[in-house]
Amino acid sequence: MTILTTGARGKVGRAVLERLHSAGLTVRAASACPAELTVPAGVGTYKLALDRPETFAAALDGVRQVFLYPEPAGIQELVAAAEAAGVEHVVLLSSSSVLGPDAENDPLAGHSLTVERALAASTLTCTFLRPDAFASNSFGWAYSIGRSLPVELAYPDAHIAPIHPEDIADIAVEALTGDSLTGRRLTLTGGESLTFRGQLAILADAIGREITVAHITRAEAERRMAAHMPAPMVSSLLDLWEAANRGPAPIADTTATLLGRPARTFGQWARENAAAFTGR
Ligand SMILES: NC(=O)c1ccc[n+]([C@@H]2O[C@H](COP(=O)([O-])OP(=O)(O)OC[C@H]3O[C@@H](n4cnc5c(N)ncnc54)[C@H](OP(=O)(O)O)[C@@H]3O)[C@@H](O)[C@H]2O)c1
Repeated sequence: MTILTTGARGKVGRAVLERLHSAGLTVRAASACPAELTVPAGVGTYKLALDRPETFAAALDGVRQVFLYPEPAGIQELVAAAEAAGVEHVVLLSSSSVLGPDAENDPLAGHSLTVERALAASTLTCTFLRPDAFASNSFGWAYSIGRSLPVELAYPDAHIAPIHPEDIADIAVEALTGDSLTGRRLTLTGGESLTFRGQLAILADAIGREITVAHITRAEAERRMAAHMPAPMVSSLLDLWEAANRGPAPIADTTATLLGRPARTFGQWARENAAAFTGR
């Protein structure tokens, strides 16, 4: 039974692919840029750009399960192509943001929600993984930390429960290889609520030097973030962090419940990725 993994250059997609291959399953790596993929020997690579329907049929031919990154552009065509190819099960990397108030009109949540709805309306069996913020979002601080500059934050005391991308990959593999998660909607978080300041203290410990935090205004944060993402996305993220300022983040305890072991900690993620923050 062939499993297609989209986003094979992404942090979660790559980890899912490696685990399935190590387990001896037949897996295909799909990417918008297959030439840039590094895959285990014997894994076939396919060009599949989620917003380009003409790339779907060849990648899906003979596939029974798909690990899918959410991309609303082209999702109707992807569903139709998957149904036509005989795909039985899709495991979607969605987002906990779909559960937020007014998710429909929120640009962050709307992306994943559109994809969830298209899949739910199809004949495919679908499992939705809804992770909270990834621990790997901290790579966004690497530039400043690597140059010993302060990390500038509008909401340094906002709480999140960062999840290690490898925990998401473990749960995705369980969903693709077992029966217990099939068809479920699963909120995934890390095991501890941490403020951004707390995450930075853990990162400082991992790299063995102090990290300074600079508290900036929301307007200043807006201005800087606008260089990297559309304005509605910036507002949505800042609103999320402002709300997260009010107290500890909910912990979903999913890793313990679904896999029978504790979640990987942010400290573990920080130690594994310390080199990215040392500027060396
Ligand atoms: N970061 C978070 O905190 C968070 C929280 C909840 C949910 N999520 C969801 O998780 C996903 C990955 O998040 P990430 O930011 O950490 O990135 P990432 O794992 O580094 O993954 C990015 C990958 O997405 C794939 N991709 C994106 N658009 C595509 C397209 N049009 N066609 C084909 N593949 C496409 C690309 O794969 P190829 O280049 O290999 O094609 C790219 O490598 C996002 O979709 C996001 O909605 C993220």
